[in-house]
Amino acid sequence: MALPGINELVSLDGKCAIVTGAAQGFGAAIARRLGEAGAAVFVADRNVEGAEQSAERLRNLGYNATACSVDIADRGKVTALVDAAAERTGRVDILVNNAGIYSNYYFAQMPPQEFADTVSVNVVGTFQMSQEVVQRMVADRQGGSIVNIASVDAFNTSAEGLAHYTTSKHAIGGMTKSMAIELAAHSIRVNAVCPGAAMTEGAIALVTAGAPEGIDVEAQWDGIKERTPLRRLCDPDDVARAVLFLASDMAAFVTGAFLVVDGGILVQPLEGYVPPSGH
Ligand SMILES: NC(=O)c1ccc[n+]([C@@H]2O[C@H](COP(=O)([O-])OP(=O)(O)OC[C@H]3O[C@@H](n4cnc5c(N)ncnc54)[C@H](O)[C@@H]3O)[C@@H](O)[C@H]2O)c1
Repeated sequence: MALPGINELVSLDGKCAIVTGAAQGFGAAIARRLGEAGAAVFVADRNVEGAEQSAERLRNLGYNATACSVDIADRGKVTALVDAAAERTGRVDILVNNAGIYSNYYFAQMPPQEFADTVSVNVVGTFQMSQEVVQRMVADRQGGSIVNIASVDAFNTSAEGLAHYTTSKHAIGGMTKSMAIELAAHSIRVNAVCPGAAMTEGAIALVTAGAPEGIDVEAQWDGIKERTPLRRLCDPDDVARAVLFLASDMAAFVTGAFLVVDGGILVQPLEGYVPPSGH
């Protein structure tokens, strides 16, 4: 039996993809790769101007991109976005739940609202986007692929001051597993990408703003590169490539998986580890 060619496997021609948080950072890089693979990409973000600019950059590259306004924590706006995307392209084939927020507060001093907001966007937002898309995918019986952007914090907390964030990313892990099991019967694959630290626009803002509770955010980021076996930070396109793999037929038999994109930082021994010096 002839195998499908590699271009066919990776192609998203004729598919519709929604990427949340795609105005900047990982989301913009993900939207770019999905657009390059042929998908009609909905660049969704609560930063409308940023989404317009991101979509414009993709259109200038010859890709099919439409900017959309959404606050994923607001169910009404989520429903409107998914309705608009489905109406325009016929159906939603791919959803990338990338939008997320992060900040630094020691647990004892963390404002309860900060904890609630983080869970509201990262967890409830991902649930709402997914449920709206899944209900349509189930109804039209054509399957689909959902990729949740988790973090290495879905496994371990990567630094102090991240209890809210780490909680939210563990929850994304649980949601990914539950969705994968329940939705497999509908040919909907659900996977997570777990990136390591990257200097995205959001991360740069966090570092330059410092942390109100006295956490030295800059010190947290210094040295990550040295502790990473591949000796660099994550690049947004590293994440985008992993998402393209999971979204495409390259990953046709992959569901409930956690694809860690961290340069090896999670698997190294905890203490006394000396990264390879080159040999
Ligand atoms: N940067 C890192 O080191 C890192 C590492 C691991 C995982 N992540 C995860 O990757 C994802 C993207 O992170 P990033 O660093 O690119 O962030 P970023 O702050 O640079 O970009 C996030 C985008 O999401 C949008 N957004 C935030 N809340 C939203 C909401 N309620 N509705 C719609 N859009 C919203 C923002 O406007 C922004 O454009 C997040 O889920 C984050 O937790 C980041």
